Amino acid sequence: MIVVLVGAPGSGKGTQAKPLSDQFGIAHLASGDLFRENIKNGTELGQLAQAYMDRGELVPDDVTIRMVLERMSRPDCAAGVILDGFPRTVAQAQALDAALSRAGKQVNVVPYIKVSDHELLRRLSGRWICRACGASYHLVSNPPKQAGTCDRDGGELYQRPDDTEDVALNRLKVYFQETTPALEYYQSHGLLVEINGEQGIDQVSHDLTEALKQGSRA
Ligand code: AP5
Ligand code: MG
Repeated sequence: MIVVLVGAPGSGKGTQAKPLSDQFGIAHLASGDLFRENIKNGTELGQLAQAYMDRGELVPDDVTIRMVLERMSRPDCAAGVILDGFPRTVAQAQALDAALSRAGKQVNVVPYIKVSDHELLRRLSGRWICRACGASYHLVSNPPKQAGTCDRDGGELYQRPDDTEDVALNRLKVYFQETTPALEYYQSHGLLVEINGEQGIDQVSHDLTEALKQGSRA
């Protein structure tokens, strides 16, 4: 099953994709995490991506598409994948469709986690992330049991450098300008399923589970 999880920065893609991937036995592949891994390892791709990420802009399509499709070709994605943060442009969506069609596959469902701008900014400014496993917490709405420490594996929590107010605002602007056409692309293919992302984490998770079950039957 191929799931494309879409939503603005801070909508809850990462929070939801991890447990969903465990539940459905498919891989979780987040383009932002792949870029951050490359930055941490000091690769050429990481150096290129960092300049864009620091400004809250999209990394160019050609490098992003190459990176994600290469990662998707590995064995752990054979049973299926939840894509988080990719595609973000129509060119990326078309490149994904072409690659899947060569493999006799297709996107099954595109859940769109919808959240208001005001709530998105509130979430990004209070977010803390585990350095080890990438789990997301929120100081107010989803705090770790022990401050600064991940509940899952005891890893250290940190704030992402692109969560400062200026960069977060630009990420939202870029999202509405560049990703809205990709949502329209999936809507026109009858794949988009809107999920109310302002509910509690468990309810959002329930609605996503239903959307994935329906997608796997389609
Ligand atoms: P990326 O890492 O993908 O970031 P993003 O899309 O900006 O999304 P976030 O990770 O910020 O938000 P999220 O939806 O995962 O929310 P989360 O679950 O953490 O991309 C970063 C950068 O990489 C981009 O700016 C770009 O430069 C580059 N990039 C990546 N992909 C690219 C692509 N395809 N093309 C080009 N460039 C690309 O939740 C947020 C907070 O809210 C947390 O604190 C969480 O605890 C809390 N929360 C979650 N759900 C709820 C809820 N229901 N109620 C209350 N709080 C909640
Ligand atoms: Mg994320």
